[in-house]
This record gives sequence, structure tokens and C-alpha cells, in this order.
Amino acid sequence: MLVIAPSILTANFARLEEEVRSLEQAGGDWIHCDVMDGHFVPNLTFGPPVVKSLRAVTRLPLDVHLMIEDPDRWIESYRAAGADRITVHAEACRHLHRTLAHIRETGALAGVSLNPASPLSMLDEVWAMADLVLIMSVNPGFGGQRFIPASVDRVARAAAAIARAGGDALIQVDGGIDAVTSRDVVRAGARVLVAGNYILTAPSRAEAMRTLREAAAVAPGRPASGAVLT
Ligand code: DX5
Ligand code: ZN
Repeated sequence: MLVIAPSILTANFARLEEEVRSLEQAGGDWIHCDVMDGHFVPNLTFGPPVVKSLRAVTRLPLDVHLMIEDPDRWIESYRAAGADRITVHAEACRHLHRTLAHIRETGALAGVSLNPASPLSMLDEVWAMADLVLIMSVNPGFGGQRFIPASVDRVARAAAAIARAGGDALIQVDGGIDAVTSRDVVRAGARVLVAGNYILTAPSRAEAMRTLREAAAVAPGRPASGAVLT
């Protein structure tokens, strides 16, 4: 199973309804919503009212990626707005265990994310609590950045750690996902691919998503992006 979660970060915000419908028709599984607060990341996007408006125009699950400080303050608002999955950054949480439990109490699925420089061991005590583990493959804040090759090995190590902990979290990868990098991360254990630029700027969004899906079917081999996989 491979889930494709197109990110609306690089969509035309003046035409969000059209954009989301187009991503749904083109075969997207979830809509990835990048929430930025100008503090945790050096960019600003949107808040719960936009998520609520999106909820009204698509049946797809809304996958809300909170790149914000102290996300506990906002979990209920995003859930009430219609978020199906809420992902927080471990670096932004003082009490990560409490935050993940809080997300689940609202009825949403709980995700936890790590920036490229954060040690995977930050999640050692919560691997089995998460429904989703998001390995950032760029420094969060902007679409269209280059994939960081070391992310491939991080995905493999996260997959092993989840298995050791007896968890069942899906591994999601976000940032610089394209026809090449998708193969490497899926081979390493990723099951959910977030892609912004690659899908939104493609001449055919449906074709771009099909190409990403093919990543799941590719035979094992040498990582195509030159990443080292241990
Ligand atoms: C980055 C965001 C991503 C971004 C990915 O901070 O979390 O979801 O939209 O965009 P691309 O696929 O263009 O790297
Ligand atoms: Zn994201």
C-alpha cells in the first residue's frame, strides 16, 4: 500500500477549491495541509478556517502537518475544523507523550515529525504511540527544496525502530519527493509520500501521481538518488 498525499502549499490559494478538487480527481489519497506559524518555521500559511473550508469541498482525509510552536494550543481547533490526521513536530512539544495522547483523545490520528537534524532517538519512547511518523526530507518551511539524501537511511532506521517497539505507525516522507527520490524512500520503508511541487507543477497531475505510485512496485536495488542505505 502506498498513500499519495499531495501538499497544497504550492497551490494557487485564490483557487483552493478548484485545486483540491483537481488533486482529488487526479488520484490523491489524502490532502496534506502545511500549517506554519512564522516561529517554528520561517514562513506563514493558514489556520483552522482554511482547513474548515477545505473540509467542505473534499471527501479525502485531511492530513494536517503543524509546523508550529506549542501545538497543544491548537489541536482541538484543527480537529473541529475537520482534520483527520494531526502531525506535530517533536521539537515543538514540551510533553510529546501528552500531545500525542491529546490528539488521539480528539478522535484524530496522531502523527509525529522530525526535522532532518533531529536524532531519531527523540521518538524512542513514543514509537508505538504514533499512527504516523513523518521524516522530513527537507528543512520545513518551503516547497520546492532539494531532497536531503541522508533521509533515506533515516526512514530505514525509523522503520526498524517502529517494528522493534511493536508499533504500527505509517512512515511518511515530506520534502523534495519526485520520481527518483520516491523510489528510494519507499524501498527504505516509507508508506506515505507527500509531494507539493512535483505534483502541482506537473503538466498532468494524474500522471505525476501514477509515477509516484510506481515507486511502490520498483524492485530492490541501488538507491537511485545516490543515498547510502544501511
Ligand atoms: C515543507 C512542507 C512540505 C512541502 C513539500 O515545509 O512540509 O509539505 O509542501 O513540498 P515539495 O514537495 O515541493 O518539497
Ligand atoms: Zn508538510
